[in-house]
Amino acid sequence: MQIQIESQPFASINTDALVTYVFDKDDRIEGAVADLDKQTGGKIAPLAKSGELNGKPFEMVLLHYPQGLAARRLLLIGAGKSDKFTHAELRRLAGASLRYLKSRGVKKFVWLAREKENNAASLQTVAEGLVAADFESDTYRSKKENTKNIDSVSLAGFQGNDLAAALERGKLLGDSQNWARTLINEPSNKLTPRILAERAEAMGKEAGLAVDILDEKRIEELKMGALLGVAQGSVEPPRVIVLTYTPAIVKAGAPVLALVGKAVTFDTGGISIKPADGMEKMKYDMGGGATMLGAIRAIASLKPAIKVIAVVPATENMPGGRAQKPGDVQVAMSGKTIEIINTDAEGRLILADGIAYAKKLGATHLIDAATLTGAIMIALANVHVGAFGTPREYLDRFLDSAKSAGEKMWPMPIDDEYQEMIKSNIADIRNTGSGKGGGAITAAWFIKEFAEDTPWIHLDIAGTAWNDDNKPWLAKGPTGIAIRSIVDFATKLS
Ligand code: BES
Ligand code: ZN
Ligand code: ZN
Repeated sequence: MQIQIESQPFASINTDALVTYVFDKDDRIEGAVADLDKQTGGKIAPLAKSGELNGKPFEMVLLHYPQGLAARRLLLIGAGKSDKFTHAELRRLAGASLRYLKSRGVKKFVWLAREKENNAASLQTVAEGLVAADFESDTYRSKKENTKNIDSVSLAGFQGNDLAAALERGKLLGDSQNWARTLINEPSNKLTPRILAERAEAMGKEAGLAVDILDEKRIEELKMGALLGVAQGSVEPPRVIVLTYTPAIVKAGAPVLALVGKAVTFDTGGISIKPADGMEKMKYDMGGGATMLGAIRAIASLKPAIKVIAVVPATENMPGGRAQKPGDVQVAMSGKTIEIINTDAEGRLILADGIAYAKKLGATHLIDAATLTGAIMIALANVHVGAFGTPREYLDRFLDSAKSAGEKMWPMPIDDEYQEMIKSNIADIRNTGSGKGGGAITAAWFIKEFAEDTPWIHLDIAGTAWNDDNKPWLAKGPTGIAIRSIVDFATKLS
């Protein structure tokens, strides 16, 4: 799909469809919509009066062969209340317009900017929404339901001299999100830890990143006992994927940001095996790793003035004959000893060694992302990412980035009382919380035991990395959540 900037006046653009949005308010025939009403000889205002055009969120009003326009269709999308309108809504509207028109066989359309949302930042947002909306999950379907494709979208009515750069940024972020979603959607027989490492290596080389893939031998030499404990139940060997972006000038004492992502290419639970119902979804348990790879892919192109390292421990969690068992004790790379209470709490184990390795590589700041706990879905459903971190100021800076990226994240507590719950009788810590409740928080505390005093953010994306239902703006399946926030944060930390 091509996206380009259009400078012709909207009335004369020859296209399959012209698209803009309408707010839910009394005087909704205003600005660009009033211009359209005038151009079409007053075809829009009566729809508002009759109750067909209300501006309710994602309401679609489609006119064919509108008088006065060279476009063959006019699509008006409801944008909801104007005082609640943010870039998050703008991104979704752009995406919804694409999916709506695509399903009707439209090949090219024009997005017409509204007054107030016609600057470079808005254009970037619209491009992000369009690219993400164009993704489909049907990789292995022989007969594609969606042989329908959008060839080209033009963006009209934008103003400013930095539009071209904004368009490139928007496309890059959308593409990186889709790149990660393609990986997350892969079934585990098509994406083992070794294949994931190959895919990451190919991407890293293309993006100009330094690539280092640790195989099982080097993982053993580094004494990554927590990762090896998880991997020993599978015939597939583990990998640790390390991609490094180094800016042209690195000042002494400058921050080094590490992005550590959980990549369990399939989580059966191990000996503490999961129920069969819904287990097929556990192919997305590498979503945190894909997120970090997608983020560093975008960072490589945006070239911020900060060194960024992606560290992605990758393994299967299987109940093979050599699998670790409840009660076993593992020694992590940092030297801490871990009592395995439940082999299904494996994500925190591989992150422990991923974080230790990131610190060994010189990380001064950490972010981890993981489909870590079912408990975060109990707390926040599939609406917000659970965001943990210390110190609090560091977390707050990250939440600011999430806000500007339009990704919903909610701060979670990490008080010392929760640390008590992961004390073990036999080892330094246990891999699940004692007592009931707080499962997402005790999991975060486990990871903090390895981040220690390094500024650290932990994103539990178990609830938000996968959509079970189609959204008007996004196909069901992997979402690619958190990439835009992480990229924004890395750029601002530099
Ligand atoms: N990968 C799961 C978490 C998960 C659950 C992700 C559902 C997406 C959807 C993780 O490894 C896990 O199994 N966590 C356990 C921890 C428990 C054993 C303490 C959980 O949340 O049930
Ligand atoms: Zn698990
Ligand atoms: Zn898992």
